[in-house]
Amino acid sequence: MAEMYPWFKSLHIIAVIAWMAALLYLPRLFVNHVGLAKGSEASEMLKGMERRLMRAIMRPSLVMAVLFGGALLSVPGVVDWSMGWIYVKLASVLAMLAMHGLMEKWLAAFQRDANTNSSRFYRVVNELPAVLMIIIVVMVVAKPF
Ligand code: HEM
Repeated sequence: MAEMYPWFKSLHIIAVIAWMAALLYLPRLFVNHVGLAKGSEASEMLKGMERRLMRAIMRPSLVMAVLFGGALLSVPGVVDWSMGWIYVKLASVLAMLAMHGLMEKWLAAFQRDANTNSSRFYRVVNELPAVLMIIIVVMVVAKPF
């Protein structure tokens, strides 16, 4: 397992970068989608972009990030469970997973032309994954406590 550690970490970081990119981009598409007329060419185009982003990037990269994160947890000696950073990291990752779940729900509403949230709402939502990412990266790299 120890030999696999650098490979697990490489694949974990690659998956995390793709997942973060999608989590930060999808709300931007929602911001632009809110003002468009239902059934319009532009609205249908955004529906396609949002759907493909979720299916081709956001879902697979989530699975890979969790899979290789879990693999890293199972490598003996990688995590000192007497330290606090790993608990803050995993709690922040749970919040990130909840964000993903909400984006699935909002995507489904847009696909049905049934979105009820404002573009301001999605602008605020857009910041949350960024804040969580900062906390997670500082915890796992600096391991401050
Ligand atoms: C369930 C999901 C996750 C689990 C179980 C997990 C677990 C881990 C573990 C055990 C390590 C190795 C730490 C070490 O080598 O000292 C690691 C590394 C890392 N994780 Fe995660 N992680 C998860 C999700 C994430 C997310 C969502 C991000 C970013 C937003 C992230 C960013 C990183 C980074 C940047 C590293 C490399 C740290 C370094 O090189 O020192 N992880 N992760």
